[in-house]
Amino acid sequence: ANNRHFFVGGNWKCNGNKRSILELVELVNGIHVERNTGVEVVCAPPFPYLDLVRSTLKKEFGVAAQNCWIAGSGAYTGEVSADMLLDVGVEWVILGHSERRHLPELHESDETIAQKTEKALESGLGVILCIGELLQERENGKTLDVCIRQLNAVAKVVTDWQKVVVAYEPVWAIGTGKVATPERAQEVHNAVRQWFRNNISTQVADKLRIIYGGSVNGQNCGRLAGQRDIDGFLVGGASLKPEFAEIVLSHR
Ligand code: G3P
Repeated sequence: ANNRHFFVGGNWKCNGNKRSILELVELVNGIHVERNTGVEVVCAPPFPYLDLVRSTLKKEFGVAAQNCWIAGSGAYTGEVSADMLLDVGVEWVILGHSERRHLPELHESDETIAQKTEKALESGLGVILCIGELLQERENGKTLDVCIRQLNAVAKVVTDWQKVVVAYEPVWAIGTGKVATPERAQEVHNAVRQWFRNNISTQVADKLRIIYGGSVNGQNCGRLAGQRDIDGFLVGGASLKPEFAEIVLSHR
């Protein structure tokens, strides 16, 4: 048991249209989360729907963008600044998602993600920072090395961790139906927290929410949520379905 506020994010990725997005909002609005003791729920729709979601989703739920630019507004064709996100009421941004790190067309580096994190925090957004290893890295026993390398880049620029949530998303578990076992996920979460304890501070380590992502669904969420160092989830596929409600309510 711990007193960290359980956090469940729905990463809708590049999915939906106005109609289906409004249906999803209705679904999330129908989830009864108790105040204070409840869960922090954050929905991350694609950019064009952020404003619509923020204006239709209940205020007790948060809204996240799936990316933002490394600098302020200006001559950056095609980019969206943190200030614009704040302007339409967005509270969070997902940064360092493995799809942005590893899709060959995007290939965001640790440094780019660190710069984006710095800018987003400085502007006042909360950051859901994703880390995690590829299958080959896992097979080579490199899981922690990779997570720590990704964290180190960000730790160079972050001074205040209060508005950061770390999402451990092993890449081999994303969208594959191959969820990490609760024990394995717990082991990595615990090691990540230990890294924070040794390299940042005990206080940050104790307070930091470390959430799990990768094939979380209505069936497997309960056992994962029961692990000491798993403070919530970042959900992809299942966040587009009614079972998202079960995941939100998995923490009792
Ligand atoms: O960010 C969440 C994600 O990458 C996990 O996706 O579909 O495996 O739940 P999924």
